Amino acid sequence: MGPGKTLWYDEQDERIGYIDETLLPESFQTAYCSTIQELGNAITTLAIRGAPALGVAGSFGVALCTRTSRATSLALLLEEVKGHAEWLRSTRPTAVNLSWGIDRVLRAVVTAQTRSEAESKALAEALQVAREDAMTCHQIGEHGAALLPDDCTVLTHCNAGALACSEWGTALGVVRSAVAGGKIVRVIASETRPLFQGARLTSWELLQDGIGVTVITDSTAASLMRKGEIDCVVVGADRITHDAVFNKIGTYTHAICARHHAIPFYVAAPLSTFDPSGNERDVIVEERNRAEIAGYPGRLTVPDTVPVRNPAFDTTPLDLVSSIITECGVYSAPYDIAGIAGKHTKTFTG
Ligand code: MRU
Repeated sequence: MGPGKTLWYDEQDERIGYIDETLLPESFQTAYCSTIQELGNAITTLAIRGAPALGVAGSFGVALCTRTSRATSLALLLEEVKGHAEWLRSTRPTAVNLSWGIDRVLRAVVTAQTRSEAESKALAEALQVAREDAMTCHQIGEHGAALLPDDCTVLTHCNAGALACSEWGTALGVVRSAVAGGKIVRVIASETRPLFQGARLTSWELLQDGIGVTVITDSTAASLMRKGEIDCVVVGADRITHDAVFNKIGTYTHAICARHHAIPFYVAAPLSTFDPSGNERDVIVEERNRAEIAGYPGRLTVPDTVPVRNPAFDTTPLDLVSSIITECGVYSAPYDIAGIAGKHTKTFTG
């Protein structure tokens, strides 16, 4: 189920393949990055997006520059790769997975004794990150499915599906696993202004699977909750610090409305999204460009002289979160974010 792999490493041609998400739902097209600069561009334009997918992209990116470098010694190679990795890290600062994926492969590369060992270690680790991501999403799905009623309507925001991961998805992984287990699940996808990841991507990928989905404007959600038409909210996350959940702008509004209407609000995220030492106030929330609000789609929507604010993410305090669904299980308040994050090393060692 789902659109298949969202991104992959093409070893034969030393390039990264991906589904170009800027073109969906009008057109399904795959594309390739042969350089780290092309990868950075695909990330900043949101052709590749979603926290877990950014983790895989970061790991593939370090593998790509390790394997395509023309550096003449191991020392020069490491210097070059580290420089490119720092630049790639800066392309999207909020989702911690990008840095996490980059660091996974960097840690493998710096242990190499020779250039060819660096190349093979980089690729092996990057492919392992991608495999783990797929496995993790299925585990999140299994754990989260148990929380959903047998017949229910789930509100989700943005796209936390297969298109945001290497496959299956986190929030939509929960939906997919519940459906695979025989539950009847209808999804309400909030459109997710200004770039419409809910309207364009969530609806598209659920349509491929034959899972019923209806798109609403972001501001319709509260009214549907009031009418009793939403049983629970399931969203993904870009970063979970010890005090807050960062996710697509608009998530916080859904969390407040869910609390007001006594509707469970679930966050589904892999442990690679956890940043236990991070504080809400220290994390850079990406401010995207004016054109996404004032000139989208293709016409002037705000007078030229009127300022806009376009933060890509917001933060939801943990006390509004009913449970966090991870590959290691489901956690409820009071949250020990550091303790949960510490389980990561136990999950994938060996
Ligand atoms: O700006 P985007 O499209 O990368 O934002 C994505 C989100 O906010 C997702 O909800 C989040 O990354 C979780 S994806 C499993």
